[in-house]
Amino acid sequence: MKNLTVVGVGHVGLVTGACFADLGNQVVALDTDQDRISGLQRGQLPIYEPGLEELVGRNLAAGRLRFTTSYAEAVAEAEFVFIAVGTPGGAEGEADLKHIRQAAESIAQAMIAPLIIVNKSTVPVGTGDWLADIVRSHQRVSIPFSVVSNPEFLREGAAITDFMHPARTVLGSTDARAAEKVAQLHLPLRAPIMITDLRTAEMIKYASNAFLATKISFINEIANICEALGADIKEVATGMGYDPRITHHFLEAGLGYGGSCFPKDVKALAYMAAEKGRHPQLLQAVMEINDDRRSLLVDKTRELLGDLRGKVIGLLGLTFKPDTDDLREAPALEVAQMFSSEGARIRAYDPVAMERAAELYPEIQMASDPYSLAAGCDAIVVCTEWNEFIQLDLRRFHDLMRQPVIVDGRNIYDPKQMARLGFRYVGFGQGYGPDGMPLSEPEPARQEERSL
Ligand code: UDX
Repeated sequence: MKNLTVVGVGHVGLVTGACFADLGNQVVALDTDQDRISGLQRGQLPIYEPGLEELVGRNLAAGRLRFTTSYAEAVAEAEFVFIAVGTPGGAEGEADLKHIRQAAESIAQAMIAPLIIVNKSTVPVGTGDWLADIVRSHQRVSIPFSVVSNPEFLREGAAITDFMHPARTVLGSTDARAAEKVAQLHLPLRAPIMITDLRTAEMIKYASNAFLATKISFINEIANICEALGADIKEVATGMGYDPRITHHFLEAGLGYGGSCFPKDVKALAYMAAEKGRHPQLLQAVMEINDDRRSLLVDKTRELLGDLRGKVIGLLGLTFKPDTDDLREAPALEVAQMFSSEGARIRAYDPVAMERAAELYPEIQMASDPYSLAAGCDAIVVCTEWNEFIQLDLRRFHDLMRQPVIVDGRNIYDPKQMARLGFRYVGFGQGYGPDGMPLSEPEPARQEERSL
């Protein structure tokens, strides 16, 4: 059992603290946001992450996890202090490190015994050295400490699984003993542990996310080519994925990536490269392809509806991906903006994020369920592949809509079934004939089929 502190109770910090507590450690989680901390002390979470409310509640009750806004209290008995604060991207892609700086200064001023400072936040390569300089220059008295980089690889919506069953633990430090101690903390996870230097560990995080984003832009480019040649992108991805060098992961074509990580991290890596005079050709292309997905979706809708002025368009899903309430860099919101700028009226339904979306985007009319969304729409545009959308009664959808048009931004429906049900349908890389045009006008649905 070890005493550890986590600074920052966002997705990464809260999952890290709750999971380390569940592994039997004594954890103090700190944030400067008093409302957040007061809520957490009552077991109320500021974020939606499957399984996290129960995990926090259980460890709160067991006394292994507690929350505070006081750095003095947080570091008093700690052997490890994990920094898990946000590093938002600036306009050019540079990472904004103000929260890291604040945490480092506060830790330095509060520490009363040797500490191992473990950075989990995604930071530009070289930040670990910068962090050490800040701590050293802000200590009241000189107390030994070490800095270890320990990048996180948590997917929102699967964060607890990803923490408890990591593919690997990456540690980077100039102090091998400190890295070894952090490795000990991770032994119960029974995953490969890699110890390297600070800069290399920081780069592994960026390179991993940039590679995953590259896979997504790659399959999206292939989807564009499939549309022109009448191939089916989902079948192509399946055929590719059997190759163990490729795998089936991150080969889902559609609206592209969003969220608080991929857009920011790819941009930051490109910025770091350009700053050092190494033109990031591939990363630029990855970002351009991804940006184009949003306008492509609007083009597809315009091809099926004609002039969008006055048309009612229903967005199915708003979050950047399923099983999260996170709207950051959500493609749906960019698409909503584009449709509005062409005079369309936007309606939306999302299983968990509508309240937050309504606050941010009052111009979007929220529907209470998918069917009331469909009523009166000229087109339904799928933006997030929530499971509940896959099971919808599409016959009922067809009867409720003003025009039976579906533009499938996440390829959740089968083009042939959509045609049989009487929809005019396109996806990304599917729903196109050999001539590169949307599949011919739907055959009139036979009665028995409509009862699907
Ligand atoms: C990602 C990384 O997976 C994780 O390791 C890192 O720590 C944080 O960033 P996350 O952003 O939570 O996690 O979501 P992820 O599941 O990776 O999806 C990222 C985006 O890519 C989403 O917008 C998703 O819709 C999109 N995506 C994902 C695709 O468009 N196609 C795919 O095949 C997979």
